Amino acid sequence: MSNVINERKHDHLRILRHDKDTDRRKYYFDDIRLTHRALPDIDLADVDTRIPFMGKTLSFPLLISCMTGGRGEELLRINRHLAEAAEATGVAMGTGSQRVMLEDATARDSFMLRKQAPTTLLLGNLGAVQLNYGITPAQCNQLVRDTGVDAICLHLNPLQEAVQPEGDTRFRGLTARIRDLVACLEVPVIVKEVGCGIGLEDALTLLDNGVRYLDIAGAGGTSWSRIEHGRDPGGESPGLCFQDWGIPTPDAIYRLAPLRDRLTLIASGGIRTGLDMAKAMILGATLCGIARPFLDPASDSTEAVIAHISRLQREFQTALFLLGIPRATDLIGRHDLILNAVHLPPAGR
Ligand SMILES: Cc1cc2nc3c(=O)[nH]c(=O)nc-3n(C[C@H](O)[C@H](O)[C@H](O)COP(=O)(O)O)c2cc1C
Repeated sequence: MSNVINERKHDHLRILRHDKDTDRRKYYFDDIRLTHRALPDIDLADVDTRIPFMGKTLSFPLLISCMTGGRGEELLRINRHLAEAAEATGVAMGTGSQRVMLEDATARDSFMLRKQAPTTLLLGNLGAVQLNYGITPAQCNQLVRDTGVDAICLHLNPLQEAVQPEGDTRFRGLTARIRDLVACLEVPVIVKEVGCGIGLEDALTLLDNGVRYLDIAGAGGTSWSRIEHGRDPGGESPGLCFQDWGIPTPDAIYRLAPLRDRLTLIASGGIRTGLDMAKAMILGATLCGIARPFLDPASDSTEAVIAHISRLQREFQTALFLLGIPRATDLIGRHDLILNAVHLPPAGR
């Protein structure tokens, strides 16, 4: 099984590089316009982009979203470059699914990132559905201890599993298993999607079952349905049909914003600039995740990743300056800063 998982990771990277349309580039955030301040009455240099999250302070609200890890030099290099850059710049980083670690000792090195990132907010990752296929809370706690991560992202990916020829599609009873894991895991659980979003009904269910962090990972960026189709283009997979399925990221965050006093929200899926990040926070997110745009810099070098992060930070800081907002913490949930938005639902829906 570990060979299948590992080969799949390499397949995904190959398809992402050769098929540019796996990034759906919907630019949903462009439909939101913010209120420009001609007289911000603050200095650009004084804008404080820092954000506290899970007991650590990030230099600005960026999470390098969960991507990879596994056997092979390429996966090892990508994670090390990301970890070194996250540590150097003070942003958060997630690893890809650690399931492969349970089955293949040689895959472990790529997840052991505390040497490169001793102080970074580091997030581990597992597919939630694997709790229905034999992964136990005790194994999850062991992964946390082995890797020293600050939290585990538990991903929900029903579309990806449904279009994969070998997909794990037994989701029945998963809510109770998530509840049991949240109750006994030694670190917080962040439940995330992988590009289709999390709606209000599921958010409320997760909240009722003890989850306090959601990464809504909505539609508009990387499409796992299209990527899975790319693994078997001539086959029977309905992956292309569903390539744009899901709740657009701005819409998902906006709808969950009223739960913000009980749930910490992370926005991801199609966030491509520091301005998109500012918009996601205005809609209600505390942190913003970006995955695909980091893949190429991470394959190159730590410096290339740092350069990309610096660009995002500059864009984010400029957005706050132009909104007259001195601190990133003041941005969260400030719907009054929206000038107009084409596709957001009417308030209260
Ligand atoms: C190369 C790659 C690998 C990914 N692997 C995982 C994974 O193992 N676990 C997970 O939860 N999400 C995974 N994702 C999904 C991302 O974390 C993110 O939710 C999604 O790609 C949307 O963000 P984006 O539009 O910025 O890429 C992966 C994304 C990419 C691009």
